[in-house]
Order: sequence, then C-alpha cells, then structure tokens
Amino acid sequence: MKNYLSINDIDSLTTLMEEAKALKENPRAFSNLGTNKTIGLLFFNNSLRTRLSTQKAAMNLGLEVIVMNFGSEGWALEYGDGTIMNQGTSEHIKEAAQVISQYCDIIGIRAFAGLTDKEKDESEVVLNGFKKYASVPILNMESSVGHPLQALADAITIAENNTKKRPKVVLSWAPHPKALPHAVANSFVEMMKLQDAEFVITHPKGYELNPEITDGITIETDQEKALENADFISVKNWSSYAEYGQVLNQDPTWMMTKEKLGNAKFMHCLPVRRNVVVEDAVLDCDQSLTIEQANNRTFAAQIILKKIVENL
Ligand code: CP
Repeated sequence: MKNYLSINDIDSLTTLMEEAKALKENPRAFSNLGTNKTIGLLFFNNSLRTRLSTQKAAMNLGLEVIVMNFGSEGWALEYGDGTIMNQGTSEHIKEAAQVISQYCDIIGIRAFAGLTDKEKDESEVVLNGFKKYASVPILNMESSVGHPLQALADAITIAENNTKKRPKVVLSWAPHPKALPHAVANSFVEMMKLQDAEFVITHPKGYELNPEITDGITIETDQEKALENADFISVKNWSSYAEYGQVLNQDPTWMMTKEKLGNAKFMHCLPVRRNVVVEDAVLDCDQSLTIEQANNRTFAAQIILKKIVENL
C-alpha cells in the first residue's frame, strides 16, 4: 500500500480484515518489520485513541515513533501557491513536508475540517498538501472528510460481533452542542457500502450528508422506524452539510437511549458526551461495543502500517 488516505486505498477488505484478526491474536508477530524505520505522527487537532493506538500499532511493528502536536507547536503552515507570506503563516507546506520526509519513513496526519469553507475542506488542503510534497507515504489519522482508520476498526468490530448473514446496521445522528465534522460518518457510510448488510442512515431533516457519499443508501428521517430490528446502531453527531458547519437542531429526543437500543449492539467512535449524545445506561451496558471499537483501532492501524511498511 502506498498511502492510506481513504478506504479506497484498500485492495481487498476481506483479506485485510482477516490479516487484522491474525495481528490481534499475535500483535508482535512482525515486531522486526519496522526496524530502522520511523513514523512521524502530526496532530493538527486533539486526539486520545488515534494518537495512542497508532503509536501502539507502530511499536508492535518495531517502528520508531515521533509525535508532534503540529497545531500548537509547529510553525503556522501556508498552503497557497505563490502566496506572499507577509501575514500569519511562517512556513510553506512545500518545505515542511519535504523536511519531515528527511526524518520519517511514513507521515501520519490528523487535520480536521474547519467547517466554515466547504470547498477548502473538501480539497483536503493539509492531507493533500503533505501527499503532494512529502516523499514518503501518508497515513490519514482523520482528515476534513474522512476517518478511514476508524471505519476499518468499526468494520472489524461488527465482524467480530455479528451473528447474522446480513445484519441490519443503522447510523443514527444524535444531538451535540458543538458543530462537528462529517469525517467519521462519511467513512462509516463508505465502509458500510462494502459490507453485506442492510444499512440505513437516520437523521433529522437538514442533516443530509454529502449526497455523493450517501448515493444509493436508505435514509429515514423517522428515527424510531429506522431503528426497528437493528442489529448494530452506530451513533454520531455531525453538523449540517447543506448549511455547511451549522448546528440546526439540538433536539434531545434524538439522544440514544436504552429503550431505543432494544437488543442491538451500540457503537460510537468516542469521545462521546454522556446524556447528550447517548444516555449512561447505553454506554454502561453489555451491548456497548465502544471499548472494543477503541481496542480495534490498534489492529486497524497495525494492518495498514504493515501494508505500507512492506511497500517501502
Ligand atoms: N475516535 C477517535 O478518532 O478518537 P480520538 O479523536 O480520541 O483520536
């Protein structure tokens, strides 16, 4: 694998998931693969799971790890071509990406959507800037429009907990006080398109995701109807896509409750706001897969890093 920018970089999902399962059973099986190689993880935004699970995955493969909170500790980067840099930015992506490529054999990037300029967010200036100017592979650790490591961990988690030939999986919007990006939901949808599952998205009117991503997917604005007979319910907030980055609705009746969950398994990528997005009784019950999802982040990252290192 050259880069992991989106789930489109996966050749065979079935094979990849089988290999991830084997790594989970024996995480140190390839502990010498990354010897004398270094991965640099650059965070333009906060993280708990991605930061620690990707480090853990890299260490399991014998890679050296450098982590930098680029958003708070790096020079403010310029991405424009031909910009006269007499304002706030101090270093151009052209130099920064090439310089980091001198120190690292792989670069992981976390850079969220700004949620004010749709066109800018969709052009993935940070991720694509590094892809363009770095001379080493790039790993997406959540970008403006996608979180493919989370989606892979979620697919692994569903496979491990599924008991049916064709389970029903529901992605349900939930309220949140802040405007959140679409990345997690987008990648979950893209991943579900590759699964043999009955997949339904439910959200209030106005919260339609990018129609290019949800093309062909059932969308039901009646949450109760959408959740009927669900086997897996993945809950996530996102801001409006049409009225880009706006919070249009904080209707608490969309919060996930134990009653709505029924017999389904509950999924959320975390972090989650208790009793706003989902009530305590759901997170604290045996049907919650959130900790398994977080654990599978390590093996999702590890199989992707293994594929990238094997291609170096
Ligand atoms: N789910 C996820 O990506 O968590 P972090 O934001 O803590 O990395």
